[in-house]
Amino acid sequence: MAQPLRIALAGLGTVGAGVIKLIDTNRALIERRAGRPVEVVAVSARDRARDRGVDLSRFEWVDDAATLSARDDVDVVIELIGGSDGPALTLARGTLGAGKALVTANKAMIAHHGLELAALAEQSGAALKYEAAVGGGIPVIKGLREGAAANQIARVYGILNGTCNYILTAMEEEGRDFADVLAEAQALGYAEADPSFDIDGVDAAHKLTILASLAFGTRLDFTGVEISGIRHVIAADITEAKSLGFRVRLVGLAEATAEGLFQRVHACLVPLKHPMAHVTGSLNAVVAEGNFVGRLVFEGRGAGEGPTASAVVADLIDIARGEFGPAFAMPVASLAAPGTPSTAMRHGRVYLRFAVPDRTGVLAEITAAMRDSGVSIESLIQRGTSPEGEALLVMVTHDTPAASIAAALERLEGSQSVIGRPLLMHILDV
Ligand SMILES: NC(=O)c1ccc[n+]([C@@H]2O[C@H](COP(=O)([O-])OP(=O)(O)OC[C@H]3O[C@@H](n4cnc5c(N)ncnc54)[C@H](OP(=O)(O)O)[C@@H]3O)[C@@H](O)[C@H]2O)c1
Repeated sequence: MAQPLRIALAGLGTVGAGVIKLIDTNRALIERRAGRPVEVVAVSARDRARDRGVDLSRFEWVDDAATLSARDDVDVVIELIGGSDGPALTLARGTLGAGKALVTANKAMIAHHGLELAALAEQSGAALKYEAAVGGGIPVIKGLREGAAANQIARVYGILNGTCNYILTAMEEEGRDFADVLAEAQALGYAEADPSFDIDGVDAAHKLTILASLAFGTRLDFTGVEISGIRHVIAADITEAKSLGFRVRLVGLAEATAEGLFQRVHACLVPLKHPMAHVTGSLNAVVAEGNFVGRLVFEGRGAGEGPTASAVVADLIDIARGEFGPAFAMPVASLAAPGTPSTAMRHGRVYLRFAVPDRTGVLAEITAAMRDSGVSIESLIQRGTSPEGEALLVMVTHDTPAASIAAALERLEGSQSVIGRPLLMHILDV
């Protein structure tokens, strides 16, 4: 009989409880695939009395999760506490430092400390696995790290945050405003009480950082991601985008350029003919373009108990089989510096929405600012007037350098013809 894989589980929330339920439900199949028994020996969380919908009496309860890494009766620690630093990082460092395998779903920790952890894993010969950290149940880490490993990847992008996609989809389907849908999502438990990591693009940026490193063989570079979220998207943007043949999506995109790795999380207009326009609700999708394989599209549930547990247990099965290699597909020392590409050198079509006073001369001033900055306009629509005398001006540009758009907006700063800040969304033309 093969030796069991002995597991310690830290964090028994949505994902942790899901992992126990999944192992209980599919144990026979998992053990056949793993080639050996899988045995949870110890668990840890903050509140021992909390009902988690699973029988924990079978496992040893440990108050201090950090002690799990030093136990002789544990082969793998699963970290499902969360947070980029604090107890999760202490546990991760201790586990890999002790030469034990670590499985985590913690994208924040991997995005910020992944290189250090990967180096520790290399030194001690331990496995560092994090499939659940990006795209929940979607096997995109495996897809890039293994399936597409022979390819040069030109670009990787995706819908990486289910909360944002849920909000944008509900805004489109029900014609509701952002704040209204967010409040409902919070009441239903789809969005956190503090939703800023999700709606301001930080969570998507953590995941993009990880995807970019895997896709391009570069060092993780969270600080290099240009980040904005969906807070300023209004229902009218979604309606206008639709009439122009697009859907609004929060897109994380990373590209290998001559100057280095470009990474951006931004609300984008996605053409209706693109598969990502049809990723609705809380689903996630990742697209990668390889030079031999072509376009790969991964889609599925990016969060939730079942999908995330599915990815965590897949990592366990790999470890049980002894199938693991460098965490970022190559040794840390082989990962290239990300470089510093200039955003101003980029170009593309953009959507601009201005709130404007409903009076003569406004249109002329805005279009003159565009002309004088070298921005050529593909379409221009003025819509409605509010009781306050405000109208919306929606513009789509031709392919234009980012520096020209920035110059035009600078010319209009402080102008009486523009109320508040215009909204800029990039158009996904790939
Ligand atoms: N939820 C998802 O759909 C999802 C998807 C992908 C990735 N992830 C990632 O998975 C991780 C876990 O997420 P989650 O949604 O399961 O979080 P969660 O429901 O908030 O659960 C966190 C767990 O960690 C425990 N905990 C907190 N501090 C601890 C400490 N110092 N020592 C031991 N345990 C501690 C909590 O204990 P108590 O229960 O006693 O408070 C709780 O059981 C995060 O990194 C998250 O980003 C989650």
